[in-house]
Amino acid sequence: MAEANNTTVTLKVHRFTPRPERAERARGGSPFARKSSPFGSGSDSAARRRPRGKQWVQEYTIPARPEDTILDCLLAIKRTVDPTLAFRYSCGHGMCGSDAVAINGTPTLLCTASIRDWAKQPGALPQVDDEGFRHIDNGQDESSDSPADADGAYEATDSLGVIELAPLPGFPPQRDLIADIDPMLNQIRKLTPYLEADGVLATTAEGKVNAFEYLQHPEQLAKYETLSNCIACGVCEGSCPVFAGGDAFIGPAALIWASRFINDSRDTKAMERMDAIDTADGVAACQSVRACSRHCPRGIDVGEEMWQIVAKVRER
Ligand code: SF4
Ligand code: FES
Repeated sequence: MAEANNTTVTLKVHRFTPRPERAERARGGSPFARKSSPFGSGSDSAARRRPRGKQWVQEYTIPARPEDTILDCLLAIKRTVDPTLAFRYSCGHGMCGSDAVAINGTPTLLCTASIRDWAKQPGALPQVDDEGFRHIDNGQDESSDSPADADGAYEATDSLGVIELAPLPGFPPQRDLIADIDPMLNQIRKLTPYLEADGVLATTAEGKVNAFEYLQHPEQLAKYETLSNCIACGVCEGSCPVFAGGDAFIGPAALIWASRFINDSRDTKAMERMDAIDTADGVAACQSVRACSRHCPRGIDVGEEMWQIVAKVRER
């Protein structure tokens, strides 16, 4: 990240340090507590419980340019200001899905979010009142929440604004901006997220087996190609009010992965896959809120795909 001018950005980071597990908890805790838990008794339920620990909001003001990503800023903070700040990333360009967080309350990826798009003047950010409710100051003119002038230009000494960062909602936080996405990955794993197909043997000129070929027409590919772009980032799950409620719903990401193979003409287990999601916590739990559609970084219309797979399961 270059520091060619004097513009700055302030990041308000919701930080969290878990309390070390006590010995009896590490061994599984009280069996009476487990039986009476409102979260159920499964390992997924245990994983969803919010761990206890120290929580606070820390502000960092650093030099930044409007075109920098928020990941650039966090890396600069980690290298030069506060090495204890914890966040997760890998590819840096929207392909791995490991850096999903809530930016100004909206689930999205750190590496594709620019300062220009997300920085707000402080009054434009939702404020948390004494009772824990979030409000936006209505006295603020929404059109003037960016410090840029009408042409999108910034003064060389401007504050670009404030950005609020929190871990991905709907998942237990592990540390600072890192959320535990195992509940989502476990749900995806349960639905056998790999091709189960009868391949066609391809042979060499000498008649020896060379490889399996899975033959498919372009029209057949088009039915699931977009779905296969899912990177399991969890943004759709962090947006879903039903998924956030606990074990009531296996979640949109797991259904997208099921749908990806159900729509694949090469897969031979479509009926079994539809049986697996035709449950109270499967397609029946989707309330068609469609919040999942708004922020998918891979451009999947998750809500529409949910609708399609619900119809397919009911019609079979
Ligand atoms: S459907 Fe989109 S938002 Fe949901 S996990 Fe996949 S890539 Fe992320
Ligand atoms: S770091 Fe890989 S998607 Fe953002």
